[in-house]
Amino acid sequence: MDVFDPNRLPRRLAVVVDHLPDPVVLVDASGFVQGANAAARRALLPTLAVGRPLSYGLRAPEVLDAVAAALPGGPVKVEFATRVPTERTFEVQITPALEANGEFGAAPVMLVFRDLTEARRLERMRVDFIANVSHELRTPLASLTGFIETLQGAARDDPAARARFLSIMRAQAWRMTRLIDDLLSLSRVELREHVAPKTPVDLRTVAAQIIDTLRTMAGERGVAIALAAPEAQAIVLGDADELSRVVENLVENAVKYGESGGRVDVAVDRREDGFELSVRDHGPGIAQEHLPRLTERFYRVDVAESRDKGGTGLGLAIVKHIVNRHRGRLHIESEPGSGTLVRVILPAADRA
Ligand SMILES: Nc1ncnc2c1ncn2[C@@H]1O[C@H](COP(=O)(O)OP(=O)(O)O)[C@@H](O)[C@H]1O
Ligand SMILES: [Mg+2]
Repeated sequence: MDVFDPNRLPRRLAVVVDHLPDPVVLVDASGFVQGANAAARRALLPTLAVGRPLSYGLRAPEVLDAVAAALPGGPVKVEFATRVPTERTFEVQITPALEANGEFGAAPVMLVFRDLTEARRLERMRVDFIANVSHELRTPLASLTGFIETLQGAARDDPAARARFLSIMRAQAWRMTRLIDDLLSLSRVELREHVAPKTPVDLRTVAAQIIDTLRTMAGERGVAIALAAPEAQAIVLGDADELSRVVENLVENAVKYGESGGRVDVAVDRREDGFELSVRDHGPGIAQEHLPRLTERFYRVDVAESRDKGGTGLGLAIVKHIVNRHRGRLHIESEPGSGTLVRVILPAADRA
């Protein structure tokens, strides 16, 4: 018997406890397990059995010590981490929960476990994100401040230096503007991610329009962009602005990082389950170990190269969130030496 014993706990309460999502364990005064709900047996203590010491199933000295200490005292909270089957962090509230009136044996102690793993991960992401944003803004700001001081001092009466510094300052100010714009786009998409867009949009038209706006920029780098699209429309349920950002980011990346390939091939294709937008370049490609991380905010293969090319490190993160909002899929394939292929698959409007 390894659930809360319905003969000893009112039956309905036993069922409730057994279905609680958080692990709950009841231990008696000598540290023997009296009951463990389903979540406890599943998540935490597969080897734990009623009638055996808690220490047999739970190898967490912090918790066992706290249980011993809690027996005469008030509630305590302790944290502990597990390594097997997965790395997780739990907080355990240990309460001498029930009256020692004999019903549950002498002075039982209740342990309620809360899984903090996800909350900790999110907290770490938030802290990293703020550190990254601050760092990204500080660099151009430091450069601006430096130039302002020079212009007020040494270069005060040097028109040639002034013109040169002002153009660098403008570039730095632009860099901050791009960063703020990307951060705002990211937060807007994230806010709406759970609401799938509902307007019919022709993916072909979006791709053609954006490519037209990028031709000059590509031409300056010696890159030609080709678009292969089907005769018929490629209608998806989408947000035309967001889909434009997807095409823009992917084609821009292909042009900037795949410049040496001289050619970018964009295609819109009908697939069984929707439409596929693919952007292929013939540049240096991306090493395998970077591929899974490219859509993380601020992740770049080469930070200096990205900055040099006006990147913020947020483009693919924005693309990923937009694709998620459209209930689509994003695949990045690359082999060093033979270029990169990015594919976005979106459900067709008639299948959504
Ligand atoms: N087509 C590509 N070829 C090679 N590297 C790429 C390509 N697309 C993206 N990358 C790499 O992925 C990184 C992240 O891309 P992205 O999120 O668009 O940020 P950004 O372009 O602002 O740096 C880039 O810095 C670059 O290192
Ligand atoms: Mg980019």
